[in-house]
Amino acid sequence: MKKIALLASGSGSNVENIVRYFHSNKELVFFVLSNKKEAYVHERAKKLNLPAYTIDKTGFENGEALQFLLDEHTDFIVLAGFLLKIPENILHVYSGKIINIHPALLPKYGGKGMYGHHVHEAVVAAKETESGITIHYVNEHYDEGQIIFQAKCEVLPADSAEEVARKVHLLEYRYFPEVIEQIVLHK
Ligand code: GRF
Repeated sequence: MKKIALLASGSGSNVENIVRYFHSNKELVFFVLSNKKEAYVHERAKKLNLPAYTIDKTGFENGEALQFLLDEHTDFIVLAGFLLKIPENILHVYSGKIINIHPALLPKYGGKGMYGHHVHEAVVAAKETESGITIHYVNEHYDEGQIIFQAKCEVLPADSAEEVARKVHLLEYRYFPEVIEQIVLHK
């Protein structure tokens, strides 16, 4: 059995989708770790009977988060809408065992400040004809770790940033659990 930490800062719709996907799979167990006590992901966790914890920014920076992950016997870390930078100590201990999903086709629209609606607004402003998702390993630079998987969607001239976000979320729901399954269980 492998234990997966799902790190999320916001709504957590990907967290919910991942947990539902693995519902009847006894090989993986999950818990949520958020940096925000008030994040909606906690409501979802309650509904899913999923253990959920909060460690704030300082706790990530001072080593508390790493200690917590180790105490929980965490095998793998999945960032699903997690907005803090992962500190060096966690990267070191969990090298090659942390993945992130980014809501655009990296290397475009990545880096500091490129998260959530900012990404989709930039895509629309640049009149891109496509966007998509990138699932990648996490290293010390924002959105620069080795790419594992990408999928594309069309961006139409009339699409708003909200519409692009909707299309991108559909790709995330469809592919993120499958990629996690491949990486964690079959690698
Ligand atoms: C997703 O679009 C993900 O790619 C990005 O943050 C968003 C999180 O959405 N990193 P949700 O909280 O899972 O609904």
